[in-house]
Amino acid sequence: MMNLKKFLPVLSLSLLPADPLAAHNPTWTDGIACIIYSHCTSCHNPKGIAPFSLATYNDVYQNRYAVAASVQAGSMPPFPPSQKKQRYAHANTLSNHEVKEIADWVNNFAPLGDANAIPTPPAYNSGYSLSNPDKVLKIPTYTVNTTKDLYRCFVLPLNNNSAQFIRQIEVVPGSRDIVHHALIFQDTSGKPLSLDNADPLPGYTAFGGTGSSSSVLITGYTPGQGLFEYPQGFGARVNAKSYIIIQIHYPGGISNRKDSTQVRIKYGTGTPRNISTAPILNHSVSLKNGPLSIPPNVVKTFYAEYKINVNVTVTGVFPHMHLIGRSIKAYFLSPSRDTTWLVDVPQWDFHWQGFYSFRKPILVPAGSTLYGEATYDNTVNNPNNPNSPPITVNQGEGTADEMFLVYFNYTGYVPGDTNIIIDTASHLAHHASCFNTSGNEELYTDEITLAPNPVRDCLTVRGLEGNFNACLYSGEGRVVLQRNMSGAVPLDVSALPAGVYYLRIQSANIGVRYVKVQKE
Ligand code: HEC
Repeated sequence: MMNLKKFLPVLSLSLLPADPLAAHNPTWTDGIACIIYSHCTSCHNPKGIAPFSLATYNDVYQNRYAVAASVQAGSMPPFPPSQKKQRYAHANTLSNHEVKEIADWVNNFAPLGDANAIPTPPAYNSGYSLSNPDKVLKIPTYTVNTTKDLYRCFVLPLNNNSAQFIRQIEVVPGSRDIVHHALIFQDTSGKPLSLDNADPLPGYTAFGGTGSSSSVLITGYTPGQGLFEYPQGFGARVNAKSYIIIQIHYPGGISNRKDSTQVRIKYGTGTPRNISTAPILNHSVSLKNGPLSIPPNVVKTFYAEYKINVNVTVTGVFPHMHLIGRSIKAYFLSPSRDTTWLVDVPQWDFHWQGFYSFRKPILVPAGSTLYGEATYDNTVNNPNNPNSPPITVNQGEGTADEMFLVYFNYTGYVPGDTNIIIDTASHLAHHASCFNTSGNEELYTDEITLAPNPVRDCLTVRGLEGNFNACLYSGEGRVVLQRNMSGAVPLDVSALPAGVYYLRIQSANIGVRYVKVQKE
């Protein structure tokens, strides 16, 4: 006979309103592996661009405080544009639910869960996703030896007798851990080839552009980025007999490493509409308070403006500055004075740049004005300042010079363009063997900060009211300090040795929050 008593508690539980967030105690097997495999291991795998792997339970366990702190700070996965004002296609960002799962898991001693049901990790190879390309252009094997940042251009003939439209393009680094990013240009002049011929090694060195004024940017590659695809019915036109120039950034500190990066291209069929890529907001012609020159020891904002006279369809943007850039944004005002944000990068990072496509094309109506704002920090407080002490920085091609460019992917407007779906999925597609793909898709935003950080004496938690518990872990995960605290009372850490720590803040309001602390 069925034991009813045994079933009753289960039945009554299932009648409670569903609250999967409250009920779920994440384990590696149930929840965490899925998040890591879907959002992190494209870079954090043994062959990836990231400095350490997160491919196994042990990898993530070893780095659990750093993992929690990085996702709660919003710095990982790297996606610099704010998604509060505009959302982007194929964006790798975590939902609130996923960030909470990670923090709860770490706080609960990071359990493995059912060892017999661990999700299968993704396959990590130096492979590609464009399997039936029309063209594969591969750079000659190049041996990288550089102490400083190196920008190397390779010239690859497309051998196309007629104009073509690129529908899909994929840059596949030969060695993912040394290819920091790349820009792809087309050029029909002989200039890049003669620059290449003048250099005895494969390619030639040029920063910023290609060294040829007729080169036109097609697209770019940043780590973790896969295939770049133009929306259905669109493409990038390449003229007959074009050269593709790939400019690769190899970071400093590489000795005797080989690279053989390739560009894979699929042409569009029929007559796609051409997407142009041009820096419509730029330091040369659209600055209101130019020239772009930043005196030492100042933080200065430059404003750009450009009037649009015809209806334009914009599919994406690519903001660009160099090392002392601090923030950059672009928006437009329509003739009826409505504001539409295109991009807002609140914390510029030269090492994480990208082409950001919108979820649907955006109409910029005739009579609109595009606005750009770029702020540069030429003080000693900017850790990326290449000059110590600071000196005047002017517009130029060198890494230590500055730029203010916002590239637009655009074409003439045709009615119906704003209904085209580039990617409107509420969240990045998850790894195939995920168990747990539920949860709200509200994107994570960070509200709590520590000041100062790096810290010498006392830390203050900002953005948090009422009582909380503060627990400081050493980099190795040992508890070094624990206090019950209230509001903005500072935490004295002056006695601790210098190094990396992780602060766990726990309160009724916010649950649990991990923050990386750099002690000086
Ligand atoms: C697009 C590639 C990429 C993705 C995706 C990515 N990372 Fe990273 N991660 C890096 C690189 C590269 C670094 C080295 C620092 C840098 O260049 O910013 C890094 C650094 C880190 C660090 C050390 C930073 C610190 O301040 O302690 C942690 C922790 C980390 N990543 C965790 C994650 C987690 C967790 C995810 C997924 C939720 C993730 N990363 C997704 C590329 C990536």
